[in-house]
Amino acid sequence: MSPLDVRPGDDDPAMLAAAARALELVADGALVGLGSGRTASVFVRLLGARVRDGLRVTGVPASGATAELAREAGIPLAPLSEDELLDITVDGADEVAPNLDLIKGHGGALVRERIIAGASKRQVILVGEEKLVRLLGERFALPVEVIPFAAGPVARAIKAAGLHPRVRMDATTGNELVNENGNITLDCAFHAPLADARAARALESVLRAIPGVVDTGLFLGTAERVLVGHPDGRVETLLRDGAA
Ligand code: A5P
Repeated sequence: MSPLDVRPGDDDPAMLAAAARALELVADGALVGLGSGRTASVFVRLLGARVRDGLRVTGVPASGATAELAREAGIPLAPLSEDELLDITVDGADEVAPNLDLIKGHGGALVRERIIAGASKRQVILVGEEKLVRLLGERFALPVEVIPFAAGPVARAIKAAGLHPRVRMDATTGNELVNENGNITLDCAFHAPLADARAARALESVLRAIPGVVDTGLFLGTAERVLVGHPDGRVETLLRDGAA
């Protein structure tokens, strides 16, 4: 069966096209990191269809929602192990710069996404063309995951670094959104987009040095390739410099 025969519910043709292309990178027997968010979910559903057709893979999900979806789709799951790297991680992103630096985390799972990316031989990112930016920070605020106890001092330090933090709220309860790690997210708006790759790295080290910051949505130099889906079904492959 062609993966495009599967209607993943959210059947945005650009997402479907990118997810179908990512499937071509998954070998039989692979250990696959499964990201989170809408685009990663499309990939999980397509991968599940392949598994039902006989592909043998094991998934490592980045969130409870992805784990549930993968189980429903019939993908066997395993935890990360000390002994083996994942062969590939497939995930989405919020912004992609020309050098493939990313902003991620608007789905609220950035820490686990970082962990599976770091435990993988390669990170493949799926996006629509609207996620391509010239400079990071053009479209989205930067999510920063914070230990709740540290929220006040972290917000103060982030303001001193020139960003405008806002605690992410739970739309249903009206309370601060607490994620699967028991942490909160500060969505940090930029005065102006980050000038270049060096500015992104400088900001990353400032933010990660603040006590109570667990991680940020800056994924710098992690993506091996980005598959850009277009509404007409075309897929462009962007490779990081040096990636074959
Ligand atoms: C989840 O925490 C995120 O990093 C997502 O990968 C990112 O927000 C993109 O999500 P969508 O595919 O839903 O746009």
